Amino acid sequence: MQLEDIKNISVIGVGTMGHGIGLTYALRGYRVVLNDLSEAILNNAMAHIRGELKTFAENELISQDMIETTLSRITTTTDLKEAVKDADFVTEAVWEDIEVKRKLFSDLDILCPGHTILASSTSALLLQDIASQCQRRGKTVITHWVNPPHLVPAVEVVRGEGTSDETMELAYDLLRKIKKVPVRIMREIPGFILNRLQAAMMREVWSLWQQGIASAEDIDLLMKTSLGFRWAAIGPLATADLGGLDIFYNFTSRLLKVISDVHEPPEELKKMVAAGELGLKSGKGFFKYDVSYFEEGQAESVTARDKKHIQLLKLWYS
Ligand SMILES: NC(=O)c1ccc[n+]([C@@H]2O[C@H](COP(=O)([O-])OP(=O)(O)OC[C@H]3O[C@@H](n4cnc5c(N)ncnc54)[C@H](O)[C@@H]3O)[C@@H](O)[C@H]2O)c1
Repeated sequence: MQLEDIKNISVIGVGTMGHGIGLTYALRGYRVVLNDLSEAILNNAMAHIRGELKTFAENELISQDMIETTLSRITTTTDLKEAVKDADFVTEAVWEDIEVKRKLFSDLDILCPGHTILASSTSALLLQDIASQCQRRGKTVITHWVNPPHLVPAVEVVRGEGTSDETMELAYDLLRKIKKVPVRIMREIPGFILNRLQAAMMREVWSLWQQGIASAEDIDLLMKTSLGFRWAAIGPLATADLGGLDIFYNFTSRLLKVISDVHEPPEELKKMVAAGELGLKSGKGFFKYDVSYFEEGQAESVTARDKKHIQLLKLWYS
């Protein structure tokens, strides 16, 4: 299959990630079918998509006309067979559960046309496990999008055990075509690159917060206005070059001895999760949120985040 042959995209699982992935493909001209377990979930996903397109238009990322044009490219169904019968490329974004993903990949293997590429958006599972029962191992790949997927440019394109060169390149080229920034990960390791880096940093963030070294607000403020600010322009290795490798060698050799090296998240976080304090989705986490996220298609905190990301995105594309 050539890139030009990809016309129909199906997205299975349209929660936090899937609806944004579907929206991105539709925005760039693809016919998109969304599939999930119930009509209510699909309606909610469409409400989110409408809200996000509205935010795009309000912030002049797209014209008003593009809202209806994009929506007209999207259809929904709870019937998996119907969802993938014409698919050239399928992205699954279902729960991060190996049994659910493995079963889905086996079903897709049977239901999809022979040429269809199956992509998983798993954050931490391995394709060798997810696609273990698939006949078309060569046509499976991981495309790990970053939340919010309709805004964050990068997507990790991960080669699994059986992924063919052709599939790697097609997934890469497809993501470039929809104006994403794909990055090739040539061998799958747990967490790929992005989540390993994120976990390494979160370990220290959790530790500083747990010790009360600074408030949650201040830790976030510092990150946004220092490392986050820098990294939006240049990466950590170029930052080290510009700062001086001798300087970076010295401070890391001292600090690596004292920063956290625990292998579990902190007990306090475990308690918050057990108490149902899950962040935006339950209205309370480190901060408080209005819970309209699941009811109205767009919570205030999400719109505010998206506006900031859109400003960055405009800079990135300029
Ligand atoms: N949330 C993130 O920040 C993030 C970031 C990157 C990658 N991911 C990965 O993306 C995937 C989805 O995560 P999410 O946060 O969007 O999850 P989510 O819980 O928000 O959404 C998952 C959706 O999948 C649906 N689903 C479950 N089983 C299904 C099935 N058999 N068929 C159809 N639909 C099914 C659920 O109903 C739900 O709507 C996971 O693999 C996750 O690791 C998540």
